[in-house]
Amino acid sequence: MPGSLVKKLNDLNTLPDKLRYLGAQLRRENSAVERFSIALYHPETDIVRTFYSTSPVEEAITAYEYPLSQARSLNHMAKQLEPRVIQDLTLLVPPINPEPANPHTLLLVEQGWRSSYTSPLMVSTNLLGFVFFNSRTPHVFSDDLLSKLDLYSQLIAQLIDQDQAAIRTLAAAARSTLSVCAERDPETGEHLERMAHYAQLIAKNLTPHWFFSDRQLQHILLFAPLHDLGKVVVPDTILLKPGKLSDEEFATMQRHAKQGALLLDKVVESHGLNRLPDIQMLKNIVLYHHERMDGTGYPFGLKGEAIPIEARIVAVADVFDALTTERPYKEAWSIPDALIELERIAGSHLDPECVEVFITHRDEVEALFHRFADHPRKKT
Ligand code: C2E
Ligand code: SIN
Ligand code: SIN
Ligand code: FE
Ligand code: FE
Repeated sequence: MPGSLVKKLNDLNTLPDKLRYLGAQLRRENSAVERFSIALYHPETDIVRTFYSTSPVEEAITAYEYPLSQARSLNHMAKQLEPRVIQDLTLLVPPINPEPANPHTLLLVEQGWRSSYTSPLMVSTNLLGFVFFNSRTPHVFSDDLLSKLDLYSQLIAQLIDQDQAAIRTLAAAARSTLSVCAERDPETGEHLERMAHYAQLIAKNLTPHWFFSDRQLQHILLFAPLHDLGKVVVPDTILLKPGKLSDEEFATMQRHAKQGALLLDKVVESHGLNRLPDIQMLKNIVLYHHERMDGTGYPFGLKGEAIPIEARIVAVADVFDALTTERPYKEAWSIPDALIELERIAGSHLDPECVEVFITHRDEVEALFHRFADHPRKKT
C-alpha cells in the first residue's frame, strides 16, 4: 500500500468515509471492480450480516443475514482462511447450473454482477467477517489484481478493527461514568439492556425509509443505555423520591439531558475520542431523548423532524420501559396498557412511525421483555 493512501485514510474521520475512499481508489486503480461489500461475523450468534456496501442503496436491497455454519462456502473459507474466486457467477445459477441457487447469488446475477472475489477478514486469528469484490465483467480477476485485492482486504480488516475498538472504548468509558449512579438509579442493568434492544428493534424495522446500516444498529445498542448519563448529577432525594416531583424538583430532573451532553463531551475529550464515528448519534440520544413531537418537550422544545431520528427512537423505548417497569414513583403497567398509552401519545409526544413499528412487532417486544426479566433489586 502506498504511504499516501494510508495517510489519506488517517485524515478521514469515520469508517464509512474511509471505506468510500477505498472504493473510489480501487475503481481508479482498476475500473472493473465497481463494488465491494462487507459482511461481519458475530461469534455470539454465529450470524454473518451485511455491514457495508459501496452503494448503500444496493445494500438495502441485498441486506441479509445467515448463520455461518449454514453458509457452506463462507464457512469453508473461514476454516481454511482461503479466499474464493468466481470468474462467472452465471455458471452457478439456472439455466447453466440446474441445482437450486442461493437466493443471494441469484440477486447478484440479476443485478448484473459477473465476477466475484471473496476474502475472509482477519485480525490476528479472529474472523471479523468477509469482503466481497464484484465486477460486471466476467473473468476480471488476474493474479495481479487478486494480490492487490488481498492488500485491500487486510487494510479493510484493520480499519474495521480500529473502529470497533474505539466504539468499545467509548461505551466502556461512558458506562464507568454511569456506574457512579448505578446503585441508586432504578433504571439500570437489565432495564437498560432491554430498552436498548427495544430501540434497536425500532431502528431495524424503520427501513427502508430510514436506512440504518448494520454498523449504526450496533451503535444504537451500545448508545441507547447511556441516554440518562446526566442523571448522575441529580440528587438521590429527587431521583428516588417515592411520590410525585414538585415543579422545582422536576426542573432539576429535567437538567439531566443537558448535563448528560456536557458529561459526554468531557468523557470524549479526556479519552481522545473526538474523531469517533457516530459520536453525534450518541450526543443526539443523550441531549434530545425528552423532546416531544409537538414541541412541548425539553431541553429545547424541538418539533417533529427537527428531533434527530435516533432520539425519537430512544424516546419510545424509554417511555415503554418506564411504563412497564416499577419506578420509585409508579407501579409497573401491563404490556397491553403500555402499548395503548404509546398509541395515545403517538403524534403529540412520540414519533408515530416509531410507535407503529413498535406495536407492529409486539411479539418481539414481549420476547425482549421476558428475555431481560427483572432481578429483584435490593433496597438501599
Ligand atoms: P423515567 O422514569 O425513565 O421516565 C422516562 C419517561 O417516561 C418520562 O420522562 C415520561 O416521558 C415517560 N413516562 C413515565 N411515566 C409515564 C406515564 O405514566 N405516562 C406517560 N405518558 N409517560 C410516562 P419525563 O416525564 O421527562 O421524566 C424524566 C425522569 O424524571 C423519569 O425518568 C424519572 O426518573 C423522573 N420522574 C418523572 N416524573 C416523576 C415523578 O413523579 N416522581 C419521581 N420520583 N420521578 C419522576
Ligand atoms: C455480496 O456481495 O454482498 C455477497 C456476495 C456473496 O454472497 O457471494
Ligand atoms: C453508510 O454510509 O454506509 C452508512 C453510514 C454509517 O454506517 O455510519
Ligand atoms: Fe431521561
Ligand atoms: Fe430514561
